[in-house]
Amino acid sequence: MVFSRIFGKSGTPEPHDEPDDAEEAPEEAAGEVPEVPDAHDSYAARAARVLVGGASTGSKRVQALLGEDGPTHFVSAAGCRLVTAEGETLVDCGMALGSVALGYAEPELTRAVIEVLAHGSVSGLSPALEVEVAERFCAAVPCAERVQFLKTGAEAMSAAVRIARAYTGRDVVIASGYFGWHDWSSDAAGVPKSITDHRRLIPFDDVAALDAAAADVGDRLAAIVIEPVIERLPSKEWIARARELCDKAGAALIFDEIKTGFRLATGGYQQFADATPDLAAFGKAMSNGHPLAAVCGNAALMGAAEKTWISSTLASESGSLAAAYAVLQWHDRADICASLGDIGREIREAVAAAIEASGVEGVSIEGLDPMWFLRFDAPERETIFLKAAVESGVLFKRGPYNFAAMAHDEEAIREIEAAASAAFVTLRDQDGA
Ligand SMILES: Cc1ncc(COP(=O)(O)O)c(C=O)c1O
Repeated sequence: MVFSRIFGKSGTPEPHDEPDDAEEAPEEAAGEVPEVPDAHDSYAARAARVLVGGASTGSKRVQALLGEDGPTHFVSAAGCRLVTAEGETLVDCGMALGSVALGYAEPELTRAVIEVLAHGSVSGLSPALEVEVAERFCAAVPCAERVQFLKTGAEAMSAAVRIARAYTGRDVVIASGYFGWHDWSSDAAGVPKSITDHRRLIPFDDVAALDAAAADVGDRLAAIVIEPVIERLPSKEWIARARELCDKAGAALIFDEIKTGFRLATGGYQQFADATPDLAAFGKAMSNGHPLAAVCGNAALMGAAEKTWISSTLASESGSLAAAYAVLQWHDRADICASLGDIGREIREAVAAAIEASGVEGVSIEGLDPMWFLRFDAPERETIFLKAAVESGVLFKRGPYNFAAMAHDEEAIREIEAAASAAFVTLRDQDGA
């Protein structure tokens, strides 16, 4: 098992002074992780004891996956396939919440990352690679005259809002979408009301609600913050109205392109729809599963980033920058987003054929081709489908979204169709039982 080759039998990293030639010490290095003696020692059970919620990423918690008896942990992933801790190989349709659009461990990109890491991931100076990636990124993204790299989407979105507030000297933002877990955008326990008081939430693609919020906020408006694609494209009217209101109020229009960047178009929704915001945030597919995010925008707005304080020790760590550089090269060489759309459409058609053939009811295919999902009329029925699909070798995402990847080749799509067919038949038969 790859895991045990890297970390040793116990699952604990080997000390640094272990011999380099691990291949010559097969007893220590090549052992398997001990067989799991019973359910209480599964990774899920161990995770529940030591990890908050059982997983650091919310959407990978047991209840967000398939429940106690579904797969929860992987030991390796390549292309569009992962190997579970139990040794099952699954075709992955969720692609790590859309953070991977090329494929897991894409060989050329991974070699580039390893090569760069071997020369030092950080030092007392910024890496030259940061400048190289920034130049290419600014050439690829319409609104980006300047960029700052960070590590997570939530960080990049918090930075965008901070920059807008610093630039305008105002506090209130109108927001529509999901922007991560940070205080400015969250109603979760522990967030002071004084912070949420400075944010007006509006529904997606609702021009009247946008107008009403803008009228209410008046000259306190710092920014209108929009996640431009939620299940479908927004109307042009909504986006144009947001632009107009920002221009009128001297506020910043911010797009969250964390999911749409390097997927709908390389430069995100703004490029796809020819609607340029003042500021935007990118993450996920821009570095194909390596931790990197970016806040970017026009020079005047981004200049305000120097009036405030946005910084992180590992923001310019070289491994993720190398991954982003490789992604940008992929996008330079071919129309990756057109291919993601084609692949997503093929997968949707395959799943639609499976629905049709099974005669199952109460399920529809929603979303856009490169980011689609299944909508069930009842969560229990979705769970039955997901579990049955895993038994046939395919991991679908619960709810939004399944993300197309370049690695979803014809064979994978055939497997997806076969697993979906089997799972819809199981669901149909249980409906009738
Ligand atoms: C639209 C959008 N914005 C922001 C985020 C937060 O990004 P991260 O989880 O990297 O902090 C996400 C994550 O799913 C997202 O989909």
